[in-house]
Amino acid sequence: MPVIIFGAFLTFLTSWIGLVAYPSLQLGRFTPFTAEDTGDINPPPLSGMAVMGQRVYASSGCVYCHSQQVRQVGYGSDLERGWGARPTVARDYMRENPAFLGTMRTGPDLTNIGARQPSAMWHHQHLYQPTVVSPGSIMPSYRYLYRLRKIEGQRSANAIDLLPPDTAPDGYEIVPTYEAEALVAYLLSLNRNYPLPEAPEPPQQ
Ligand code: HEC
Repeated sequence: MPVIIFGAFLTFLTSWIGLVAYPSLQLGRFTPFTAEDTGDINPPPLSGMAVMGQRVYASSGCVYCHSQQVRQVGYGSDLERGWGARPTVARDYMRENPAFLGTMRTGPDLTNIGARQPSAMWHHQHLYQPTVVSPGSIMPSYRYLYRLRKIEGQRSANAIDLLPPDTAPDGYEIVPTYEAEALVAYLLSLNRNYPLPEAPEPPQQ
């Protein structure tokens, strides 16, 4: 009997060391890196809107179709596809809680979408109706993050420029909700092309 109990204890202890204690020692104490010459802090801090946008990203299920990890040379063709200037490393995720590494790539990797597509309007048009900017897209429309509003006086500054075949009825406009604004702020913040000591940018070709 004591042998069984001791054996069970040993099994749990070794798995706790392997799965919790060792990874936490190895990866649990990252600090941002400050470049001496430029003073840049990497990974850069996120704006409050972007942090809010992380929550919208989580609750909208984007991670079911999009990864956020650029693999090393030899593990896939992520760099050739233009998904990043360098492979991602553990420190890139220190401001993410949770990190949306993802397991499926029904859509492209989004690690650096803010660098690849820096237009907020493009993101709103795409989220509202993916096929208008990306013909044949199978990404679902997120138009529940937008509202139809009656134009009173002037058109709102943040109204979406709808692309055909989408139109708003005469005298109405489509405006993003706070959630949509936050989600786009988060997408625009996704740019991990900065250099880190353990992941320098490869020389430009
Ligand atoms: C059912 C799978 C699916 C889901 C869920 C999904 N997407 Fe997509 N996404 C795609 C596909 C497929 C594409 C490629 C076609 C396109 O551009 O629409 C794509 C493209 C994109 C692009 C453009 C990428 C590029 O490199 O041009 C962005 C940005 C994006 N998705 C953001 C999101 C966000 C944000 C969410 C959650 C609100 C989301 N997606 C949810 C499938 C999905």
